[in-house]
Amino acid sequence: MALLLVFIITLLSITKSDSSTPAAHVFSVTDYGAVGDGNTYDTQQIQAAIDACHAAGGGTVSFPKKIFLVGTIFLKSGVQLKFNDSTILGGTKMEDYPTDPHRWFVVLAENATDVGIIGDLGTIDGQGEKYIEKLDEKSSVMKSWNTTGVCHGDRCRPRLVGFFDCKNVTVNGMILRIPAISNLHIVRCENTFLGDSILESHFYIPHNHGILIEDSNNTFINNTLVDNGGNAITLKTLKGPIFNLRVTESELITKLSAIKFGSGSRFDFNGIIFDNINVYDSHRGITMQLREGGMASDITFSNMNINLDYKGGGKAEWTRAEPIYIVSKSRISNLRFINITSHSEKGVVLSGGSRHEGVLRNVKLVNVNLTFYNTNLTDNAELDNESCGCNQNKQPSAGIRLEYIDGLLIENMLMRWVRSGSNSESAWKNFNTFDFRPSTVNNVSIHSFSSSLD
Ligand SMILES: *[C@@H]1O[C@H](CO)[C@@H](O)[C@H](O)[C@H]1NC(C)=O
Ligand SMILES: *[C@@H]1O[C@H](CO)[C@@H](O)[C@H](O)[C@H]1NC(C)=O
Ligand SMILES: *[C@@H]1O[C@H](CO)[C@@H](O)[C@H](O)[C@H]1NC(C)=O
Ligand SMILES: *[C@@H]1O[C@H](CO)[C@@H](O)[C@H](O)[C@H]1NC(C)=O
Ligand SMILES: *[C@@H]1O[C@H](CO)[C@@H](O)[C@H](O)[C@H]1NC(C)=O
Ligand SMILES: *[C@@H]1O[C@H](CO)[C@@H](O)[C@H](O)[C@H]1NC(C)=O
Ligand SMILES: *[C@@H]1O[C@H](CO)[C@@H](O)[C@H](O)[C@H]1NC(C)=O
Ligand SMILES: *[C@@H]1O[C@H](CO)[C@@H](O)[C@H](O)[C@H]1NC(C)=O
Ligand SMILES: *[C@@H]1O[C@H](CO)[C@@H](O)[C@H](O)[C@H]1NC(C)=O
Ligand SMILES: *[C@@H]1O[C@H](CO)[C@@H](O)[C@H](O)[C@H]1NC(C)=O
Ligand SMILES: *[C@@H]1O[C@H](CO)[C@@H](O)[C@H](O)[C@H]1NC(C)=O
Repeated sequence: MALLLVFIITLLSITKSDSSTPAAHVFSVTDYGAVGDGNTYDTQQIQAAIDACHAAGGGTVSFPKKIFLVGTIFLKSGVQLKFNDSTILGGTKMEDYPTDPHRWFVVLAENATDVGIIGDLGTIDGQGEKYIEKLDEKSSVMKSWNTTGVCHGDRCRPRLVGFFDCKNVTVNGMILRIPAISNLHIVRCENTFLGDSILESHFYIPHNHGILIEDSNNTFINNTLVDNGGNAITLKTLKGPIFNLRVTESELITKLSAIKFGSGSRFDFNGIIFDNINVYDSHRGITMQLREGGMASDITFSNMNINLDYKGGGKAEWTRAEPIYIVSKSRISNLRFINITSHSEKGVVLSGGSRHEGVLRNVKLVNVNLTFYNTNLTDNAELDNESCGCNQNKQPSAGIRLEYIDGLLIENMLMRWVRSGSNSESAWKNFNTFDFRPSTVNNVSIHSFSSSLD
């Protein structure tokens, strides 16, 4: 909570300063009849303001400091939604959304160019709590709109904000909160900027992923807090590659993996940087699970603190306590981890699939401090083998497990094994610093490595 507050204060000071730029055409939603009492649906009125703005060649659609209840709002080319401490509440009835479940979003932009959602602390709230049927810290039972036949399973709930096939997208100074399922989707877009924002959800709502980036180029995320129960940032390549993604100065808190590549990796991932990222209270730090042929290259993780806190959970898919977990059947090359500290229960896994499926090539770990504070989970390692059948029991009983790697450079690595509490010195006696079979690993250099009990 303290962290959120700091973020909000930072947001206020940042966004206040640049709110003076006048917009060309301003369309106020109140002029189009929006009431903003939080109970009356303002969907049509807000849509009318957006359509008028779009028809006029673009501009700003402004929201006063009120609460607007809506069904899906379609953002059109040239339109920026501008909030002033205003809130949009997503409706909780199925008829509030289009018939196609793929379009179940509170705010949706399709094939739009030059669009934005800009907040002076604007909030888009999915009212996800209202979909909880039975609260359970491990996996709540959620309302699912699956009785109509248009959508199946337990995931038929509306998402929050979606950009599909868009160009020049800006989301800035926003709070995107408690979606019924996942939060922000950036799909097949080019030139997307997300900054100074908070995406928050709930540990108890299953599948509430934070940011999904799919098949998109030139995506920049800065100064953003993602606090949710699914993966914080997920990258998928289903119909095209992901080129040039940069995430900086951000904080990630999540039940699953803070950063996740795949699954869904048919095309390449190239030119990706995560820099200056703090991960807290998460079950896993960085995961790459590439199984479908797309290759990954030039991927850098730098200046990251990864502090994991595994809270248990019945579902095997709730990943477990590894700071870095790379399991690949594709080729991954030029993968760098620079200036990383971690506190975790389990070790690092770097594993190519096999000699046939692909090896990890040219991997660097430079200035990496790994602290292991609990031996418990490592003992239970075999339990983690059912997450989509792809983990193949690759559980570390070591600080770092290496498999199918060609070219690994380690420079300045420190491993610390915490001796406090139940973890006496002898508790660590079965753990190795490194674990690899020479037959699967080639060309490894290690410079300046140390390991100590703490
Ligand atoms: C935001 O709303 C406040 C009053 O609630 C008003 O004074 C201020 O001018 C508004 N700012 C913008 C950019 O519209
Ligand atoms: C965008 O337009 C293209 C070409 O008309 C179309 O194929 C695609 O389905 C559209 N995308 C969305 C999300 O509607
Ligand atoms: C519908 O959703 C409920 C609640 O999430 C789930 O338990 C049920 O299995 C789903 N039914 C079908 C037919 O998918
Ligand atoms: C996107 O924005 C940039 C810079 O503002 C501009 O040069 C470019 O033409 C825009 N692209 C599109 C497709 O509108
Ligand atoms: C991203 O760039 C690649 C290579 O130029 C291109 O094939 C792909 O269509 C681009 N994707 C988008 C969404 O613009
Ligand atoms: C990221 O956001 C911070 C805070 O707003 C700002 O100081 C910094 O310049 C931004 N960095 C980039 C690369 O935009
Ligand atoms: C790792 O720990 C050493 C010794 O405490 C420290 O000098 C170094 O800065 C740390 N490196 C990182 C990346 O935190
Ligand atoms: C790693 O940390 C060192 C020392 O703080 C710094 O000089 C260097 O620029 C950092 N490297 C990267 C890639 O950020
Ligand atoms: C480790 O497991 C034991 C037995 O299940 C439990 O009593 C202890 O609290 C655990 N320690 C930690 C640090 O989780
Ligand atoms: C996972 O491991 C358990 C016990 O070790 C075993 O019974 C089960 O078949 C394994 N499942 C998979 C998918 O490998
Ligand atoms: C060994 O790996 C390093 C990268 O870690 C690479 O630069 C070098 O070319 C490799 N050497 C051989 C002989 O493959």
